[in-house]
Amino acid sequence: MSDEIILGYINKNLSKQRYSHSVSVAETAKKIGEDLGLPDRDVKELYTAGLCHDIAKELPKDEQIKLIEKHQKLSNEDLICRSTLHQLAGAYLARELFGINDRVFGMIRYHCTGSPDMTLCEKIIFISDYIEPLREHHSCVLLRRYFTERRTDLRLIDVTAAKCCKRTLDLLESKGHPIHPLTIQTYEKLKNIAYN
Ligand SMILES: [Fe+2]
Ligand SMILES: [Fe+2]
Repeated sequence: MSDEIILGYINKNLSKQRYSHSVSVAETAKKIGEDLGLPDRDVKELYTAGLCHDIAKELPKDEQIKLIEKHQKLSNEDLICRSTLHQLAGAYLARELFGINDRVFGMIRYHCTGSPDMTLCEKIIFISDYIEPLREHHSCVLLRRYFTERRTDLRLIDVTAAKCCKRTLDLLESKGHPIHPLTIQTYEKLKNIAYN
């Protein structure tokens, strides 16, 4: 898989704003991987996953559902939390288009909801989607500041991922939007790791 091809695809097929966000997530994730001293393979895969993570977000929901149902049955929770469908649709689409491997697939697949069993690289993409520098929402600005003012280590990844979950849960609750159980499970697990 070549990042140049992926960049060309997202430049052509995503809105300008989503293209910039995707590149920014890729750069943020790459930097976090480098700061943690991860192997080159992981850093490269983080960049690729960042580029691809929102690849299906601008497709109509029925197309997202079709993309997923070619490969698996959708759970009721996935169908109810429609704004998160694009994580799974995007993972399958990136695999169809670019032949991404299972590690990159996982990084895209959980980038909205999180998952209690996320790998380190999955957590990095999850965080990067929230704190990348183009995000202007107040909660993102606060979390970005929190993250960048500290030394990047494994504990900070868990604490920040827990904070991302908490803010997502609070936001969805305040708007009365459905909450994906994976986000609650992720928060419960990370909160214990992060604060104990
Ligand atoms: Fe997304
Ligand atoms: Fe995103």
